[in-house]
Amino acid sequence: MLRFEHVSLSYGSQKILDDLSFEIQEGQMAVLIGPSGCGKTTTLKMINRLIEPDQGKIYLNGEDITAKDKVDLRRHIGYVIQQIGLFPNMTVAQNICVVPTLLKYSKEECDRIARSLLEMVGLPYEQYAHKYPSEMSGGQQQRIGILRALAASPPIVLMDEPFSALDPMTRRSLQQEVRSLQQKLNKTFVFVTHDMEEALDLADVIIFMDRGKIVQMAPPEEMLSHPASGQIQDFLGKFIHAQSPKELTAADFMRTGVLTVAAGRGINECVSKMQRRNVDTLIVVDDQGRYQGTVSIADIRLTGHVVKTIEPLVRCSNPTVQAGDNAKDCFDLLISSGASYLVVLDDEGKVDGIITKTSMASAMAEQLWG
Ligand SMILES: Nc1ncnc2c1ncn2[C@@H]1O[C@H](COP(=O)(O)OP(=O)(O)OP(=O)(O)O)[C@@H](O)[C@H]1O
Ligand SMILES: [Mg+2]
Repeated sequence: MLRFEHVSLSYGSQKILDDLSFEIQEGQMAVLIGPSGCGKTTTLKMINRLIEPDQGKIYLNGEDITAKDKVDLRRHIGYVIQQIGLFPNMTVAQNICVVPTLLKYSKEECDRIARSLLEMVGLPYEQYAHKYPSEMSGGQQQRIGILRALAASPPIVLMDEPFSALDPMTRRSLQQEVRSLQQKLNKTFVFVTHDMEEALDLADVIIFMDRGKIVQMAPPEEMLSHPASGQIQDFLGKFIHAQSPKELTAADFMRTGVLTVAAGRGINECVSKMQRRNVDTLIVVDDQGRYQGTVSIADIRLTGHVVKTIEPLVRCSNPTVQAGDNAKDCFDLLISSGASYLVVLDDEGKVDGIITKTSMASAMAEQLWG
């Protein structure tokens, strides 16, 4: 979709971009990140030919962009910059449809575009279309700036730190909106930020730059697990240790050191164990520690007087999971099964621990608040 081939640029003796080569696939959200002055904005501006390279070539859908008319090229590339840049004397609807108007779309078509885009970000057309930028909040204006970049349905959209002037709340909600717009419309986005959290949230692929070079280009998961340099590690900072919720497993949520008994143990011994520990079931294991089932105080009360050991009373109905199972699936199972706990087994079928609602909640709190 978008390909840089050995692109370099110098200003005087200063090398700004140094032999940049990369490729972004159609429909991808690529995020450029790196320290201030590393060349992110310069790279972005080369895509719509606001800056031309000294050396190298840039291809859009296989076509060398220098072969295209600049103005025409720009009309087919959405562009959002930090300083919103809405036209103050145009209404919201007119602002959104600047490019479609230049492209000579009909008035009806422009109205339809403005209406559907506004609706997508939860700003009802009737209420907002005829307002002027000065009558909207900063966050709302930035939304309009984004819609404007999308209005002519360009195949590629460039965004240069579009949210850096916004408060964290507005920023979060706009990030989500951009991500969902990008997925709904299946556009290719090149997004510049210096905020690693934003990059990790939004990107399909992160391009980390330093002093005009690419240090690493990788999906967020891979960058987190294998950062290519100490500098990237610093950028990733606190995120590197925090596991993403997707990676959490049963083992992260279980309580260990649970009480188990062998099936051959006597009824009275087990009852007294339960009373001491104040539990109403016991986990039963064989002599190798492998899970056999559970025995409950209710069953013992019912039939305990006719048996000597707990063996005949062992039930296998309690749900079990493997230590490596996905934590969210375990959570769902715990809730849907109505069981008071899940038994967590290792590869050999031995009991590793149990997951209760309490162990789940405290592990979640740990994840959230440390
Ligand atoms: N017109 C210019 N003349 C000379 N040097 C320039 C010019 N424009 C940018 N530079 C230099 O080029 C380098 C890259 O600038 P660029 O704006 O691409 O950085 P950036 O990564 O976007 O930084 P930031 O995160 O601060 O926005 C910087 O060292 C900058 O000083
Ligand atoms: Mg910049």
